[in-house]
Amino acid sequence: MNPKREQQTIVVGVTGGIGAYKACELVRDLMRRGFRVKVVMTEAATRFVTPLTFRTLTGEPVAVSLWADEPDSRVHHISLAEEADVVVLAPCTANVIAKLAHGRADDMLTTTVLAAEAPVIVAPAMNTHMWRKDITQANVSALRARGFVFIEPGKGALACGDVGEGRLADPATIADAAEAEARRARDLAGVHVLVTAGPTHEPLDPVRFIGNRSSGKTGFAIAEEAARRGARVSLVTGPVSLPDPFGVEVVRVTTALQMRAAAFARFEAADVVIASAAVADFRPATFASGKIKKSDAPDAVVLARNPDILAELGEANDGRAILVGFAAETSDVVAYAREKLAAKRLDLVVANDVSGELGFETEENRVVFVSADSAEERPVLDKRVIARELLDRVAALVSARKAR
Ligand code: PMT
Repeated sequence: MNPKREQQTIVVGVTGGIGAYKACELVRDLMRRGFRVKVVMTEAATRFVTPLTFRTLTGEPVAVSLWADEPDSRVHHISLAEEADVVVLAPCTANVIAKLAHGRADDMLTTTVLAAEAPVIVAPAMNTHMWRKDITQANVSALRARGFVFIEPGKGALACGDVGEGRLADPATIADAAEAEARRARDLAGVHVLVTAGPTHEPLDPVRFIGNRSSGKTGFAIAEEAARRGARVSLVTGPVSLPDPFGVEVVRVTTALQMRAAAFARFEAADVVIASAAVADFRPATFASGKIKKSDAPDAVVLARNPDILAELGEANDGRAILVGFAAETSDVVAYAREKLAAKRLDLVVANDVSGELGFETEENRVVFVSADSAEERPVLDKRVIARELLDRVAALVSARKAR
């Protein structure tokens, strides 16, 4: 995705089903709405509609084979994936859903989807028994949990003679969903988002520290998603082993005091602060410059209190910046989150129960979005989906503040 490009690109993937003819109407509708449309087809789809039809409609080459690149052109499935602001698969067969759910990439369409960073909308179409099969539904759930957006198939008479669910949704409904996703892809343009992530390590001597198990996955997912949606992003992170997200200013720190300095240095320019870091509340009061020998080990470690970075930012905020905190709790999650909301002067708290298996280090988490007047419980979701849902709420807060 190129945030500077004026016209947004929607890549439409067409798979082998009778609904492929309706993809022609979808493509025309998207073009009427002002999008540049590029089509990629499976071999099976070409049995229903020819590539020439889509080439004529879009004025763009249609990708079918992985092996048809011009010798001097860029790897086509990668360039298509990078150009996409949104990918729409319509119609999408049970077979392609299954391949995507298992990360398989053995043709132009599936390699493009696997390489794409853009949101993917899936409009399934198939025989009603195939749609209802538990394996298909499990694949759909797996993709949903990873952030794929599904447009439920409609009910009615199917091409195979059956009557039931399985018909490709109305092209206008699919185009509405694509337009909404394309809008979301730009909804943080011009907004500066400051994210804190990971743990802090508070050293006792050159080799030992007090810390916690935060992996940084949550904060990095938020930073990545914010950048994808057009924000300028500064990510202040404690020690984690994740690579820098693309297009994000990354500031790597070790201690809470360093995190505080790095966050305050960027606060004035920030429109939004999202504090997902698990900052150590205490640090050893003294630091031994050499490794403490076993024989010299003290009976007790004296601790000094660390600053509460988010509370200090809340105090310094003049109502200009939107402040989002996290709350890691082991009981009474919503009640404690509300206390933090008020005490730290926050707009929103993402509360998570870290008493069980979820939270630290995991790929998924279960959160409650807590504001002054609501508490929205979400199911277990991939942290990237949580980042996306969080930024939907942040984008709404940003536009409400702008309208004030
Ligand atoms: O990194 P992951 O492995 O993905 O794990 C994610 C997570 C469990 C770390 C994350 O979901 C989470 O809950 N982060 C906040 C953990 C925490 O420190 O919670 P808290 O309730 O102690 O702090 C409340 C808020 O104040 C947080 O926004 C925290 O960043 C901030 N804080 C806390 C203490 C402090 N000294 N300074 C702060 O800024």
